[in-house]
Amino acid sequence: MSIRFDGKVAIVTGAGGGLGRAHALELAARGAKVVVNDLGGAIDGTGGNSAAAEAVVAEINAAGGIAIANGASVADDAGVAHLVKQTMDAFGRIDILVANAGILRDKSFGKMELKDFDAVMAVHLMGTVKPCKAIWQIMRHQQYGRIVVTTSSTGLYGNFGQTNYGAAKLSLVGFMNSLKLEGAKDNIKVNGICPVAGTRMTENLMPPEMIAMLKPEYVTPAVVFLASEDAPTGAIISAGAGVFSSAQIVESAGVNLGHSATADVVAEYWAKISDFTGAKHLTNGSEHNAHIFALLKDKPVAG
Ligand code: NAI
Repeated sequence: MSIRFDGKVAIVTGAGGGLGRAHALELAARGAKVVVNDLGGAIDGTGGNSAAAEAVVAEINAAGGIAIANGASVADDAGVAHLVKQTMDAFGRIDILVANAGILRDKSFGKMELKDFDAVMAVHLMGTVKPCKAIWQIMRHQQYGRIVVTTSSTGLYGNFGQTNYGAAKLSLVGFMNSLKLEGAKDNIKVNGICPVAGTRMTENLMPPEMIAMLKPEYVTPAVVFLASEDAPTGAIISAGAGVFSSAQIVESAGVNLGHSATADVVAEYWAKISDFTGAKHLTNGSEHNAHIFALLKDKPVAG
């Protein structure tokens, strides 16, 4: 076992069950002191108590690891402040944040109430932003930090009945893309995990034989790598059932249609505009501007 976290402190949110529990157990097994956060509520985010987090802490302690429990909601300002204070009081530093807590409020968009949209955004987006904000200066001061956000294939690609969840999950990629730039000079790396696992969140969506192949612990190696010293930054690993791949947003090669291009010209060239042969992954907004200006060197193909 070469990736180790001795002397490192990790917060894993939503770690009272499912994926978060698997991440917390493995980080602890590799030497990290772990803060197991979980609100312990229902799948839609209602209710809650710290019993789930305490049970995972007991598992870690029984295996010889070091962990403490926290029952705060990641969407609650005072709760997040307490989570960070409790961690600093107990362990004196914060090296790793795995922002994993999540809820579902699935409904087709026509039937969805805005309160279900708000609730999902509050837990997934703001429930990642708030802990990140609360630990950011600590990580900067340490000149070390590893943050893993939890995105989803729904955010990257879409899923019927999950407009709220998809919006929240892709917003985390946007958050990561800029935070990785801001963290670079302080050795803070920010990455994303796109998991597929049989958990209470997915148990009604998958047949039992598929659930058996999709154990949460099969996702965890990617999270542990992304939380490690030698992690990349700005990467997304898709992981499930022992299969690992990487997802990126890419831009097509594009075409210079000239200043006189009309909507009709765009329609005429749509096949070329949307041809992803030679597509590029751009690592910041300036590269996008450069991509445009590089095409301006070509003579406009229309008008
Ligand atoms: P899960 O329901 O077992 O775990 C989510 C945990 O977050 C629960 O233990 C819950 O109590 C906790 N939680 C919810 N709201 C909270 C809050 N406000 N504060 C603190 N804790 C809170 O589900 P699972 O599958 O383990 O999900 C973990 C993450 O992975 C979620 O962000 C989910 O959206 C994401 N994900 C899961 C996929 C899967 O296939 N299971 C697919 C794509 C993404």
